[in-house]
Amino acid sequence: MKQFLDLEDISNIDSIIKSAISLKSNPFQYKELGKNKTIGLLFFNSSLRTRLSTQKAAQNLGMDVMTMNLNSDGWGLEFEDGSVMNANTAEHIKEAAAVISQYVDIIALRAFPTLTDKKKDEEEQVIKSFQKYASVPVVNMESATAHPLQALTDAITISEFKLKERPKVVLTWAPHPRALPHAVPNSFAKMMQMIDVDFVITHPEGYELNPEITGNTPIVHNQEEALKDADFVYAKNWSSYNDYGQIKCTDANWMVTKEKLQAAKFMHCLPVRRNVIVADEVLDSNQSLVIQQANNRTYAAQAVLKGILEDN
Ligand code: CP
Repeated sequence: MKQFLDLEDISNIDSIIKSAISLKSNPFQYKELGKNKTIGLLFFNSSLRTRLSTQKAAQNLGMDVMTMNLNSDGWGLEFEDGSVMNANTAEHIKEAAAVISQYVDIIALRAFPTLTDKKKDEEEQVIKSFQKYASVPVVNMESATAHPLQALTDAITISEFKLKERPKVVLTWAPHPRALPHAVPNSFAKMMQMIDVDFVITHPEGYELNPEITGNTPIVHNQEEALKDADFVYAKNWSSYNDYGQIKCTDANWMVTKEKLQAAKFMHCLPVRRNVIVADEVLDSNQSLVIQQANNRTYAAQAVLKGILEDN
């Protein structure tokens, strides 16, 4: 694997899921692979799971880890070509990415969307600029439109917990007081089309995701109908894609409850707002996989980093 900007960088999904599950049972089997190599974890936004699991994954491979919160600790970065930098930005991405590339062997990056400028968000300016001006591989730790490490984690978790060859997986929108990005539902929808599952999306009218991403996936606006006979229910809030970044629905009835879940397993990427997205009774039951999911973040990241170390 040359880089990991999005799920298209995975050449064989079954193989990388198997690799992650194997690393989970023996995390230190490639301890020498990353010896004398360094990964730089660069964050423009907050994180708990991604930061710690990617660090752990790199350490399991024998790598050194440097972490920087770019917004609070770095110089204000300029991304526009030819700009006259006489305002708030102090350093151009051309120098920053080239300099960082001399200190690390892999750059991993988190940069959320504006949710106000759809065109700019879809251009993925931050991660694409790092890719353009860095001389080392770049890993996406959640960009404006994609969270591929989370989606790989989710595929691993479904593979571990499925009780039938082709389980029914439902992605359900759920309420949230703030406007949230599309990265997690986008990548989850893409991933579910890459593995053998019966995949359905349910959301209120006005919450259609990018149709180029959902493709032929059935969209059901009646949540109860969509959840019928589900094996896995994946809850996530996202803001409107068509009315970009807007909150169109606050209907608390979309919260996932035990009654709605029936016999299905519950999944969420975390962090999750209790009794808004999902009821306590679900999160506190053995039908919830959220903790096991978060554990798999380490092995998804480790499988990706192993692939990059082997191919660069
Ligand atoms: N799921 C996830 O990416 O968690 P963090 O935002 O805490 O990294």
